Amino acid sequence: MINYSSRVETLVSKMTLSEKIGQTFQAVSAAYGKNKIGCLTGPLNDEKISDDFIWQIGSVIDNTNFDCDYLKSIQEEYLKNSRLKIPLLFMSDAIHGYRTMCPIPLALACAFDEKPAFETASLTAKELRAAGIHIAFAPVLDICRDPRWGRITETPGEDPFIGSLMAKAYVKGFQGDSNNYFIEDNKVGSAIKHFAGYGFVAGGRDYDETDFSVNTLQNLILPPFKSAVDAGAMMVMTAFTCVGAVPCTNNKMLLNDILREQMQFKGTIISDYGSVGDVCGYGIAADPSGTVKTAVEAGCDIDMMSFHYPNELEKLIKNGAISESQLDKMVANVLTLKERIGLLDDPFKGICSAENKKYLGIENREISRSVSRKCPVLLKNENILPFSKKIKKIAVIGPMGENVSYVGAWSLFGGDDSVQLTEGIKNVVPNANILFEKGCDIEEDNAGLLSTAINLAKKADAVILALGEHWYRTGENNSRTNINLPLSQIKLAKEIMRVNKSVVATVFTGRPLILQELSDIVPAIMLCWFLGHETGNAVADLLFGDYEPTGRLAVSIPKSMGQIPVYYNRFKTSHFNEDGNTDVDWQTKYTDSSILPEYPFGFGLGYSDIEITDVQVEPVLKRFGTIKAVCNVKNTGKRKTTQVIQLYINDVVAEIAHPYKELKGIKKVELEPNQTKKVVFEISEELLKYYHLDGKIFADNGLFRIGIGKDSSVKMQAEFELI
Ligand code: GLC
Repeated sequence: MINYSSRVETLVSKMTLSEKIGQTFQAVSAAYGKNKIGCLTGPLNDEKISDDFIWQIGSVIDNTNFDCDYLKSIQEEYLKNSRLKIPLLFMSDAIHGYRTMCPIPLALACAFDEKPAFETASLTAKELRAAGIHIAFAPVLDICRDPRWGRITETPGEDPFIGSLMAKAYVKGFQGDSNNYFIEDNKVGSAIKHFAGYGFVAGGRDYDETDFSVNTLQNLILPPFKSAVDAGAMMVMTAFTCVGAVPCTNNKMLLNDILREQMQFKGTIISDYGSVGDVCGYGIAADPSGTVKTAVEAGCDIDMMSFHYPNELEKLIKNGAISESQLDKMVANVLTLKERIGLLDDPFKGICSAENKKYLGIENREISRSVSRKCPVLLKNENILPFSKKIKKIAVIGPMGENVSYVGAWSLFGGDDSVQLTEGIKNVVPNANILFEKGCDIEEDNAGLLSTAINLAKKADAVILALGEHWYRTGENNSRTNINLPLSQIKLAKEIMRVNKSVVATVFTGRPLILQELSDIVPAIMLCWFLGHETGNAVADLLFGDYEPTGRLAVSIPKSMGQIPVYYNRFKTSHFNEDGNTDVDWQTKYTDSSILPEYPFGFGLGYSDIEITDVQVEPVLKRFGTIKAVCNVKNTGKRKTTQVIQLYINDVVAEIAHPYKELKGIKKVELEPNQTKKVVFEISEELLKYYHLDGKIFADNGLFRIGIGKDSSVKMQAEFELI
């Protein structure tokens, strides 16, 4: 039951049926901005919107750019024509920046720390409000194990613990303190998405079918959404896919029984672009009226651009198929958003203000550079990095070194004036002689480019290979069957290594790529992802040691395409093969490859190594109590280091099969050379709970094993009992 404010209830009571229906529809801003088609993220139906109805529409999706005067003019014109002067709500797809682009969400997840996601969302919120946008269609909380899916770039990766950590950080960053009914005027509402299970599309094929168990839904897919709802997320966007063979947008079990009742979500539900009509596409409804009825009954408050609500709702209300009281609740959910954003008090709150307009400048680059440094993952380093700043001649070789867009997918607004790798290196080591050769095209050989690159490498003190994929190879509509690093780049790496051994490969990508062949060729690899506008500076900060790489993999990196999907939290089964050996019989294996990834979840190197010893845990955990798990961590290297110590737990005997290990805690620890510190984790029943077959969430009594390590390859080393 949702209690609406008296102002909202009074407004609803004054509205005509057509005005109510208007609030439940979202158009693209092109419907108003006479001269701009905007940046469409789905088909623009050729439906016509009537002159009257256009001034009754409740909200607008605007993916044009940060032009606050443009949005202000739309709001002014709209209010002149709105009978009840209820302002338009503006929403936008700013998932990792707006004017200032920050790292892609998959990279932010690799920070293994909520701060970079929080700071990215806070910065994005300020820039959105200054432009007149009130809601961000973010964060994406889809757990995903399949790098063939182009949208893995938008996700927090394969693990619900990291996903939940990111979810809370994003919502707090976008919305501020959710205990307040009204949000501040440099914050925006957070529309978490895509509810739910979109990351499990078959074959990694975007929009394809999804089929997973209730256990996977409850214990793997939903926890990040639950974390976001608990943090106060104001909106939820439904997914294009289905749960239990019923499209999410029209799925009462999912949206009402699970989201609203089980998770206690009290906000507003919006469909994904055009997805109110999904039941027709899935062959579950024969016509739009059927689709509208199921979407309304499921609890979808806003129809984004399918036009079915405007075209069908009035008829369904008048013939009694849908009650007007149900419509009133939908309208109240929309008006509550507007009230909480402050629009019912001031339709122009926060837009274009002198204070906020500065957020549309580039002053925020330092924040982007700072969060960007936390995301790259050092995968290999055979005494190459960090480079000395005294190096005289540096060769940057590879197609991702210059004239590259590093902003990644869903950077619809900020432009791609990202700091190039060569530029960043020049900023960090201004006295060095830095030369660039492309060496090859991103996906094709080029003999001429190769020979000039080899000649440059011969004369250089060190080579920084700049490899990877086009930014537009990931994002929506971008599933691929081949995610191997292109052969042209492998060939380039081989030829450069022939003439210079002091080589590091930096890899710029929006998804995990197959790097095994590269790993066999070069002595050092830094997975840099796409970090946004400050990519070049942030990577250079790390390569020359001003900062240490502390990123850890939020998603496993496969050895080969044949392994996909490969992930760390596999069930412990009756034929379990923990070490992935191929020379075993009657166990889970491949005969031609290990089942283990090239680089496991949680993996990442720093500039110094550590050893973890004396792992212990108190033997008995009582219900409602806590126990400690401890270990000693020693810096065995010569440089100060920051490391991410990870706690994994296995529920040895439970009602349903469990992963043989699940991440349940992370601790960052700073160590001087030879310094040892004790690291302490608190374990409570809360960490051990899971949804049982009867839908209840609790932890079973019994034995649990723990492993404390540097990544998910850690062995279980101690055990305790919950009683
Ligand atoms: C797209 C995406 C969704 C986005 C929406 C509006 O199709 O699935 O993530 O928010 O449409 O652009």
